Amino acid sequence: MICPIVAIRWIVMICKLLIQGTTLISQFAIIYPLILPSTIISMKSAQINKYGSSDVIEINQNTPEPSLSLGKVLVTIRAAGVNPVDWKISEGGFQQMFPLQFPSTLGIDFSGVIKQVGEGVSPSEFKQGDEVFGQAGVISGGSGAFAEMAVANMKSIANKPKRLSYTEAAGLPLVGVAAWRVLTEDMSLSKDQKILIHGGAGGIGSIAIQLAKSLGAYVATTVSASDKPFVQKLGADTVIDYKTQTFEDLLQNYDAVFDTVGGDTYRRSFKVLKKGGVIVSMLEQPDSKLMNQYGVKAMFQFTQPDKEHLTKVAEWADQNNIRVNVEKEFSLDEAGDALDYQKNEHPRGKVVLAM
Ligand SMILES: NC(=O)c1ccc[n+]([C@@H]2O[C@H](COP(=O)([O-])OP(=O)(O)OC[C@H]3O[C@@H](n4cnc5c(N)ncnc54)[C@H](OP(=O)(O)O)[C@@H]3O)[C@@H](O)[C@H]2O)c1
Repeated sequence: MICPIVAIRWIVMICKLLIQGTTLISQFAIIYPLILPSTIISMKSAQINKYGSSDVIEINQNTPEPSLSLGKVLVTIRAAGVNPVDWKISEGGFQQMFPLQFPSTLGIDFSGVIKQVGEGVSPSEFKQGDEVFGQAGVISGGSGAFAEMAVANMKSIANKPKRLSYTEAAGLPLVGVAAWRVLTEDMSLSKDQKILIHGGAGGIGSIAIQLAKSLGAYVATTVSASDKPFVQKLGADTVIDYKTQTFEDLLQNYDAVFDTVGGDTYRRSFKVLKKGGVIVSMLEQPDSKLMNQYGVKAMFQFTQPDKEHLTKVAEWADQNNIRVNVEKEFSLDEAGDALDYQKNEHPRGKVVLAM
């Protein structure tokens, strides 16, 4: 779509040419600068101009198409996954660490099709028409995934899992790589080990349950009562209602705890572990006092999906026919509602914007 401002400039200049009866050469001199702006394609995006709750989100119909640079690809976005980090960024939760430049396009996780590759991207890596998934957040050098098109760093994308739809694949990058790194790298979880996964019905938890089961582990998980059948279907062996039951009274001698909740849940989790066990948290830095008291290892996981891990997750998803539960789809126009839904409505699995 041509930007309306450019279209108006064209009309005005053509009228001037007709009225003034200029020569061909001078007509070219006037028209040439107008041809350049005509390459500025505009698109729709969900942006913020200041930090705040979802009512600061604006749908900008005339965002210039993001420009390519070294090592980047331009992607037509088919779907964008919503994570808690999206509303945390929008509300200013990370402004000390990653200050945004306004206007800023929201969104990180996506799936889509490569429209154009930048310099430094070889055809053996990515080419036009490739179906990809990954991250295009502004804090990792992208242009923002809540948009019709986005620029992404080639190191932050991989080929999309073939068995998953675009909406399912868009829900996978952050939670899939987080679960993969924690279970296979931080914990080296193996067959017949016992793991407690907190928040089993959430984005990370619902993938972590499936990964732990495919590694052959015994899985206990904490959820709200209404999510019990959902996590049992994903493979959970023991399900604990975190609102009415006390998990540390029910579970002992576990090899590992995956904490996606933090706070008091994190601190109480040490009681579940056997000596030499490991707890990995997505929210809490290791508590050395509790580590020493219980004789266990504690780690914090900060996940930045890269091509290598995204590829592993995609291959595992295809081979194991895993389920990315997309609880609700929104349109790009409804980006604010999607963030509110993720934050307040306790979705099972993921919330996704479908373009
Ligand atoms: N460090 C990093 O790099 C990193 C990366 C990704 C995510 N994170 C963080 O990790 C957290 C989880 O992410 P997510 O995408 O999985 O979020 P999510 O999809 O919102 O899931 C959170 C889940 O936790 C459950 N929950 C809430 N309180 C609980 C409790 N006391 N006990 C057990 N379960 C409880 C929720 O269940 P109900 O809805 O039933 O309450 C929900 O299913 C978020 O805070 C996110 O910001 C950190």
